[in-house]
Amino acid sequence: MANKKRIETVCVQGGYTPKNGEPRQIPIYQSTTFKYDTSEDMGKLFDLEASGYFYTRLQNPTNDYVAAKLCELEGGSAAMLTSSGQAANFYSIFNVANCGDHVISSSAIYGGTFNLFAVTMKKMGIDFTFISPDSTEEEINAAFRPNTKAVFGETIANPACSVLDIELFARVAHEHGVPFIIDNTFATPVNCRPIEWGADIVTHSTTKYIDGHGVSVGGAIIDAGKFDWKAHADKFPGLTTPDDSYHGIVYADKFGKEGAFITKATAQLMRDFGSIQSPQHAFYINLGLESLHVRMKRHCENGLAVAEFLNNHDKIEWVRYCGLKNDKYYELGQKYLSNGSCGVLSFSVKGDRKTAEKFMKSLKVAAIETHVADARTCCLHPANATHRQMTDAQLEAAGIPPTLIRYSCGIENAQDLIDDLKQALDQI
Ligand SMILES: Cc1ncc(COP(=O)(O)O)c(C=O)c1O
Repeated sequence: MANKKRIETVCVQGGYTPKNGEPRQIPIYQSTTFKYDTSEDMGKLFDLEASGYFYTRLQNPTNDYVAAKLCELEGGSAAMLTSSGQAANFYSIFNVANCGDHVISSSAIYGGTFNLFAVTMKKMGIDFTFISPDSTEEEINAAFRPNTKAVFGETIANPACSVLDIELFARVAHEHGVPFIIDNTFATPVNCRPIEWGADIVTHSTTKYIDGHGVSVGGAIIDAGKFDWKAHADKFPGLTTPDDSYHGIVYADKFGKEGAFITKATAQLMRDFGSIQSPQHAFYINLGLESLHVRMKRHCENGLAVAEFLNNHDKIEWVRYCGLKNDKYYELGQKYLSNGSCGVLSFSVKGDRKTAEKFMKSLKVAAIETHVADARTCCLHPANATHRQMTDAQLEAAGIPPTLIRYSCGIENAQDLIDDLKQALDQI
């Protein structure tokens, strides 16, 4: 399309086009509710007969502007904001899988998502099979059951830093008549647009690079609008049969491939669970989006410079960063993340848990935080923080050696980060 805007322009201007005399920046609709002249007018909204706003738990104009920008950035057909990345991943699965269903997930995913799937959603009667992100076509096929409803993975896994073969996972999911859902938090749409590689639903923890400044927790779901729910109607009754809680609406009939998924997630899940983003936070997320393309470039430059420095240091055991030519995921990174991946890398210092502890204490520019993917460089020693209850043997078994450090390059000067790492390595 001749007038299709490039990603940098969409980051800045997407989602909201003011009319003559309207505010240039998106307005914050700090209102829980909206006023109508007649009950009939409002009734049409409740019946999903007309579009509009009545209560912010369902929809709010500020949130919709930001969702529309994210939708355009990812190349989707519809999108919604959620209060957190956790809510986004929960809704994306629960919108298609119910008690008695089964979902396949890459095992290389954020620990919070793993817990959500393996513990909490399991209690809700949804069974997950976790497979290696490096699975072959045969291995992915072998995980399917008659009641499988979706396949899930992360573009760049947190904290494993593995890169998923999106085309392969999407193709196999489609061969089994189910959608492929992908968490694109670390890559962001600036560096990877999974829909272009076949993904059906994209999720985000906007808390990370999209916000970018550590000010607001949030999430988003974007639908590619390509999955044909009606072609697999027996698998997805929630989308293809009447919703009694919404006057018998059949989402796939009324809103088509483009709108069914997000309308159902809003009308049912947001209505009932209420994990809404606040308009104020949506505004912050939009500020983050405006500079996302500029920041991601610097995150990647810093990530590569730091990874190369560590890779050549004799006190470092190994480094995981797909931008390194000797990295296991270099080829996949070149394919899916040709402009760069992100600023997050993981590495292991030579020594033991105590050596890693000493190293962490000596860092002065990088701050110790559980947070990641932020303008300020931060790092985490899982053996001493998120996973501190585990023994060395348990850590090894979980693929998180006691000497592993997750390092998230901010947008500071790369040489300052390297100097800081160098002086901390000199201490051990
Ligand atoms: C890849 C990924 N997905 C989802 C989440 C959860 O997001 P939130 O913390 O916004 O709930 C995180 C959080 O670190 C994450 O890294």
